[in-house]
Amino acid sequence: MILIKLGGSIITNKEKPLTANVPAIKQIASHLRKVKEQYMIVHGGGSFGHYWSIKYDMHTKPDRYSIKGVSVVKNSMVELNKLVLQSFLQSKLNPYCLPPTDFIFGNRAIIKKVKEISKIADAGLIPISYGDVMWFGKNKFYILSGDKIMGMLTRILKPRLAIFVTNVDGVYSNIKAKKLIYEITTEKPTITDVKMDVTGGMSRKIKEAMNMSKSGTNVFFVNGKTPQRIVNAINGKEFEGTIFRG
Ligand code: IPE
Repeated sequence: MILIKLGGSIITNKEKPLTANVPAIKQIASHLRKVKEQYMIVHGGGSFGHYWSIKYDMHTKPDRYSIKGVSVVKNSMVELNKLVLQSFLQSKLNPYCLPPTDFIFGNRAIIKKVKEISKIADAGLIPISYGDVMWFGKNKFYILSGDKIMGMLTRILKPRLAIFVTNVDGVYSNIKAKKLIYEITTEKPTITDVKMDVTGGMSRKIKEAMNMSKSGTNVFFVNGKTPQRIVNAINGKEFEGTIFRG
């Protein structure tokens, strides 16, 4: 089993509210046709979910956020998810929509349900989940990032590989000089410039990746603008990117 997170930075145009980068999604999907192993997709919110979460001041902490905001964020994620599903279908793949509410209750993964996901993948479908606004109980909601979902799934499914696809080559030690870190073992890298969003941007991704690699999964960061790198990472070929060794 392989987990692939398609970051909002690659599947949407982050500078332009509510615009999906459909050509990028299709390009990735058509490359994924070469993958023969079972895999699952989790996608982010980019200029859909993050745009509205910021507008309505909604965060990862469970709270009594604007009901209108909850509704609008949820709808925007369903809309983006539909575009991802359509792109996969058009690339002759068989995606299977799996909202996080199908396997997460409150802020905890339902182990039994998560384990069924690998059976869905075994049946030949590509489960596709996404970062979302979640019901927490007691009139509270929270923003759940796709990165967090990746962490939860990794702990239960123990995939051999998890790949974070973004619009940059990997983790840079210096963003201005574009100095790429090829391999991260145990020490937390010092990252210079980090762009923030409601779920914590690159620094939260790194934190999640570090924890995932500690549980034994190899975690890769690759640039989705060159989707062959995703295929190469899966096939054990050399590629440009960052590895967190499990
Ligand atoms: C965000 O998911 C989901 C919402 C804002 C509803 P992510 O945090 O995984 O999104 P990206 O990949 O950073 O855009």
